[in-house]
Amino acid sequence: MTMDDPVPTTERKRRPRYSGTHPHRFGEKYKELQPERYPGIVEHVRQQGGTPAGTHVPILVAEVLAALDPKPGEVVLDCTLGAGGHASAILPKILPGGRLVGIDRDVAELERTRARLEPFAESLSLHPVSFAWVESVAAEEGGSFDGILADLGVSSMQLDDPERGFSYKEDGPLDMRMDRSTGRTAQHLLASISEEALAGALTELADEPDAAKVAKAIVGARARKPLQRTLDLVRAVLSAKGYTLATWKARVKEGDTGLHPAARTFQAIRILVNGELDALDRLLDAAPRLLRPGGRIVILSFHSGEDRRVKIAFRDGLRGGLYEAVSEESVRSTPTATRSNPRAASARLRWARMPA
Ligand SMILES: C[S@@+](CC[C@H](N)C(=O)[O-])C[C@H]1O[C@@H](n2cnc3c(N)ncnc32)[C@H](O)[C@@H]1O
Repeated sequence: MTMDDPVPTTERKRRPRYSGTHPHRFGEKYKELQPERYPGIVEHVRQQGGTPAGTHVPILVAEVLAALDPKPGEVVLDCTLGAGGHASAILPKILPGGRLVGIDRDVAELERTRARLEPFAESLSLHPVSFAWVESVAAEEGGSFDGILADLGVSSMQLDDPERGFSYKEDGPLDMRMDRSTGRTAQHLLASISEEALAGALTELADEPDAAKVAKAIVGARARKPLQRTLDLVRAVLSAKGYTLATWKARVKEGDTGLHPAARTFQAIRILVNGELDALDRLLDAAPRLLRPGGRIVILSFHSGEDRRVKIAFRDGLRGGLYEAVSEESVRSTPTATRSNPRAASARLRWARMPA
């Protein structure tokens, strides 16, 4: 498939939720979260072109493999292991003799993925840390890699679970930490951030067109009552955009399938809470020191602020002779692939290669 494929004309319909007898909890809303009650349901949802709730479909897998070019005997570092989707595609390519080093700062997800990748256990080495510490991980793992992959942001499992606080669609605690063992939650950040800093973050980290208005509404809402739940934040953003929760829901019911008004705000705050740009800068800085001769780095980013950093780091690396070649344009998902995995829509892949 190529970018020239026709854009699909039929709207992708959202899979109806399981309503049961008025379920209130996330775990009861989708049959696939109860596979013991509904055997075969996960496979069935996949066959219908949907993403089962609580699972993650890896993005641009063929393109990642083409750029990363993993070969038998190589050592590859996956900085964002997630559900292990990309790792599962890389592992068979580096065997026999190769090894995959996986990092994820979400310890619970890392352990679930360790179990999923059990058949490859002997070729796997996992680290529950931020990839901001990539140089320490490298020091423990022999010092260098043939390939490095980073698929930035959060996984579908993290986004779908309201208890994590990433979702503007369901109510939950305003947490948003990928690593729940440490750091400030979104609730704490929102309790103290200045209106000016918030407006700046909304523009820089999420291209929010109404940044000043949204920041003002959030600061106004917190002065009346501390923001503790995701829906407290959603209500504040909606008010800046002229909606209430009820009027926005009515609009969705009438068929508005556009971006949720709070989506950009949630993205910006998630990036702040997790220090995502700082971690990315540290990875981009360290990569040329950690790649072996001929080594490749591939980064999948999901918003312009991230992509700009990757593009500049690779371009400067090429000019400075650190890299031998870099991608000229970012690689994007095809319309067909995006239709079956909407989260691919904003993905941009860039790569760089060391001299041999
Ligand atoms: C988009 S998902 C990766 C999905 C994975 N490529 C797959 O195919 O299943 C991003 C994952 O990276 C993790 N992550 C994001 N930033 C990180 C960081 N700075 N350090 C370590 N893990 C990080 C998140 O916890 C999440 O599990």
